[in-house]
Amino acid sequence: MSSLSKLHCTFSFFLLLLLPFPADSQPTSTNISLSSFLTTTSNASWLSPSGDFAFGFQRINIQALFLLAIWFNRIPEQTIVWSANRNNPVPTGSRVQLTSDGLLVLTDPSGRSIWTANSVRTGVSHASMLDTGNFVLADSNSSNLWGSFDQPTDTLLPTQTLNQGGELISKYSRSNHSSGRFKLILHTDGNLMMYTTAYPQEKEVYSYWSTETLPEGYRVMFNQSGLVYLMAKNETVLSYPLGTDGESTQDFFQRATMDYDGVFRKYLYPKSNTSSGGSGWAMKWNTQAIQPPNICTSVRGLYGGGACGVNSYCHMESGREENAASPSCKCPPRYVFMDPSDESKGCMKNFASHDCRAESNGSGDGQFDIMEIPSTNWPDFFYDQLESQTEGMCRQACLSDCLCDVAIFLGGFCWKKRMPLTNGRMEEGASVKALIKVGRSNSSSFAYPRKKDESSLKLTGGLLIGSSVFLNLLLLSTTLLFFSWWRRNNKRGQLHPTSSVNLLSFSYSQLESATGGFKEVLGRGASATVYKGILQNVGETVTIAVKKMDKLWGVEEGEDDNREFTTEVKVIAGTNHKNLVKLVGVCSEGKNHLLVYEYMSNGSLASLLFKADPRPNWYTRTQIAISVARGLVYLHEKCSTQIIHCDIKPQNILLDESLTAKISDFGLAKLLKVEQTRTMTAIRGTKGYVAPEWFRNMAITTKVDVYSFGVVLLELVCCRRGFEMEGYEEEEMVLVDWAQECYGARMVRRLVEKDEEAIKDLVKVERFVKIGLWCVQEDPCLRPEMKKVVHMLEGAVESRQGKGRLRNARSPW
Ligand SMILES: *[C@@H]1O[C@H](CO)[C@@H](O)[C@H](O)[C@H]1NC(C)=O
Ligand SMILES: *[C@@H]1O[C@H](CO)[C@@H](O)[C@H](O)[C@H]1NC(C)=O
Ligand SMILES: *[C@@H]1O[C@H](CO)[C@@H](O)[C@H](O)[C@H]1NC(C)=O
Ligand SMILES: *[C@@H]1O[C@H](CO)[C@@H](O)[C@H](O)[C@H]1NC(C)=O
Ligand SMILES: *[C@@H]1O[C@H](CO)[C@@H](O)[C@H](O)[C@H]1NC(C)=O
Ligand SMILES: *[C@@H]1O[C@H](CO)[C@@H](O)[C@H](O)[C@H]1NC(C)=O
Ligand SMILES: *[C@@H]1O[C@H](CO)[C@@H](O)[C@H](O)[C@H]1NC(C)=O
Ligand SMILES: *[C@@H]1O[C@H](CO)[C@@H](O)[C@H](O)[C@H]1NC(C)=O
Ligand SMILES: *[C@@H]1O[C@H](CO)[C@@H](O)[C@H](O)[C@H]1NC(C)=O
Repeated sequence: MSSLSKLHCTFSFFLLLLLPFPADSQPTSTNISLSSFLTTTSNASWLSPSGDFAFGFQRINIQALFLLAIWFNRIPEQTIVWSANRNNPVPTGSRVQLTSDGLLVLTDPSGRSIWTANSVRTGVSHASMLDTGNFVLADSNSSNLWGSFDQPTDTLLPTQTLNQGGELISKYSRSNHSSGRFKLILHTDGNLMMYTTAYPQEKEVYSYWSTETLPEGYRVMFNQSGLVYLMAKNETVLSYPLGTDGESTQDFFQRATMDYDGVFRKYLYPKSNTSSGGSGWAMKWNTQAIQPPNICTSVRGLYGGGACGVNSYCHMESGREENAASPSCKCPPRYVFMDPSDESKGCMKNFASHDCRAESNGSGDGQFDIMEIPSTNWPDFFYDQLESQTEGMCRQACLSDCLCDVAIFLGGFCWKKRMPLTNGRMEEGASVKALIKVGRSNSSSFAYPRKKDESSLKLTGGLLIGSSVFLNLLLLSTTLLFFSWWRRNNKRGQLHPTSSVNLLSFSYSQLESATGGFKEVLGRGASATVYKGILQNVGETVTIAVKKMDKLWGVEEGEDDNREFTTEVKVIAGTNHKNLVKLVGVCSEGKNHLLVYEYMSNGSLASLLFKADPRPNWYTRTQIAISVARGLVYLHEKCSTQIIHCDIKPQNILLDESLTAKISDFGLAKLLKVEQTRTMTAIRGTKGYVAPEWFRNMAITTKVDVYSFGVVLLELVCCRRGFEMEGYEEEEMVLVDWAQECYGARMVRRLVEKDEEAIKDLVKVERFVKIGLWCVQEDPCLRPEMKKVVHMLEGAVESRQGKGRLRNARSPW
């Protein structure tokens, strides 16, 4: 009974195998007789006796292009180990034939010969796909006259050898089998070496790994114990490029492949789930060993981009299970891949370059930022080297130099470099850092839905002419949707600031649905609540912060208030500075008044400074201080209408994803009537940040912001609140007083006692404390203008104020 069912099974198996094969091939035969052929249109292949390997056509992409190849036949993943025409895939209708005179020939549909096995001897009687994965042409005595093992592509299989002069060339990419950018060669002088190539030429450019076995290296073996080794002529093992761990070929399919990323890897695939049971290897291709251990740092040639393409940097991902120890190529912030489908081509700027012709107009300060990429370097080439630099100086040096694309900062050295940047690498824990200059213009993470729609509209016109019916319908409906959205939007909105400033007008219901019914609260002030929202736009989602004014703007205030609201919104919308949160839209419908801001992913300075652990480092804090000061200079001096913020405090300073500080809530005080201003601010004015003149019936000037800034600055230096009782001695509780005392006693160090970074930079700490104290003086006239504060913070101007003249600043708690 059991043998019968076995027979039945075997029979079905054969049926299965036979079904798709046309009559002219003999798939189950191990000997392929002369005149046999395969075509791309039959699904036939020539199998090895065990069925482990197959020889035939493999389709390699969605276009019907085929490789004449050998592959592992009993695993689901397509794993090609050899190919005859990797650089010249053939179309449907091509065929391979073992001719009657014993030649193996690949021809395209027109009959043109694409490839021929260069068998050196005549007398071929048959071909055979062997169980080792070697496809051979043999004579009647079964001795091999030609074998695919003699012409490896990127893979060695167990029992295969690589002789002197032999080489493996990597694929171009994960899915593209063409000859790629890396090579493994056993030189005739005895060295086994890995190279980058001058792609698309196959010439070697830079050797990033070598066995240094001159002149002994004779042959690379991959034996049945699963070991890859280089041996001398007398068979002494000289080197194990892929380690000394091996698994038996009885239990595992194995291959050693020069991969498209330049890493030589040995892979294991359990032959059955029982054999894998004890060893713990999953049923897939597992990486058992790699060489070199870190390709990112190994490749450092004079020519070529490096392990990754130009302007990108290479990072070794050690933790990824999928393909252990894989390098990944990354673009610097605000750079993009030149060809998103081919990361090895490198990266390019996604912003306009620093134009040296505009240089006379002042430095590039306004249009560029420096972004930090930690532990990253593009070594070797630089055009300028500065010594004894602080990081701040190094940043400034690159910002103000139109040639500079990146500055590398390490130990007081600042190397200025320009594109193309090569051999980029990120090394976990390295203290070097790359300070890359990026354009500000396209920096906003907020995409303007209206603008987007306009451009997609243009696109629509073009595409309607040339694309398929389905696409047309899709586009048509999108367009209709857009128009209805646009019309609804414009009918509803009571104000159209869009005409004068770049502002969107939203309907209340739009914002209601964007915030999911005003659910997630980001922050709450005295007069408004801020909610997180998500705008869905044609194929895109944008995160926003929606500020909903409380019923202060009730019906009873009438039309006048509405107009004032609109005017003021226009003033705010007219601001454009990287240290101010950007207002992107408004909604004014009846008694509902809402403002839509860009969303700041890192929250407020208050949560960062007082709650987060770890707290921001000293350098970040100094940058935040300077950013806030710059934002205030802009409000006070650079706007068409002077704007007094009136409520500077850490809660109103927000941080974006790169920790750039942005002032929020600005100018809202000016939205209020004069009388309201006082009362409102007194109500919401936060203890400790409010200048004394508020309580003294004095004129309110920009100096109130200077006062508040002074308090914030001291908080930034000391990483604590302006007033704190818990854990502080009595004289330390009020930060302003405590700072005054420490400064007077020349004990500034006590303010930053546990902060090693700050202690190393004590001169700057002292300068910042001095500026902070200068800002919080009682007499508004004695406080500096914000512009001067910026200059002093940056160290450009010495504060003239002697410590003796700093009057005790008493804050009105
Ligand atoms: C070949 O196999 C594929 C998938 O298994 C199938 O879709 C196709 O129809 C087959 N072609 C022939 C000629 O049998
Ligand atoms: C293959 O052909 C050779 C030579 O013609 C012959 O000796 C051998 O037995 C054949 N093998 C099989 C499995 O048919
Ligand atoms: C096969 O082997 C025999 C005996 O070794 C030899 O005489 C004969 O020439 C060989 N045939 C071929 C085609 O090499
Ligand atoms: C593989 O990549 C090379 C180089 O970019 C390209 O020329 C070739 O067309 C690609 N081949 C396929 C099948 O995509
Ligand atoms: C494979 O090579 C290793 C190292 O030379 C050796 O110890 C082992 O016995 C070899 N295995 C086989 C099956 O030849
Ligand atoms: C084999 O060759 C290597 C290097 O050429 C040499 O060091 C070693 O002594 C030789 N071993 C024997 C057994 O000849
Ligand atoms: C092995 O695979 C078979 C069939 O795929 C399955 O039925 C069996 O449960 C597996 N055994 C183990 C130990 O995973
Ligand atoms: C900014 O992006 C727009 C498209 O969104 C592009 O046309 C423009 O050239 C970019 N500007 C810069 C400076 O890269
Ligand atoms: C210089 O800057 C001013 C205003 O900042 C601008 O109007 C002018 O066009 C600029 N000139 C050049 C050559 O960029």
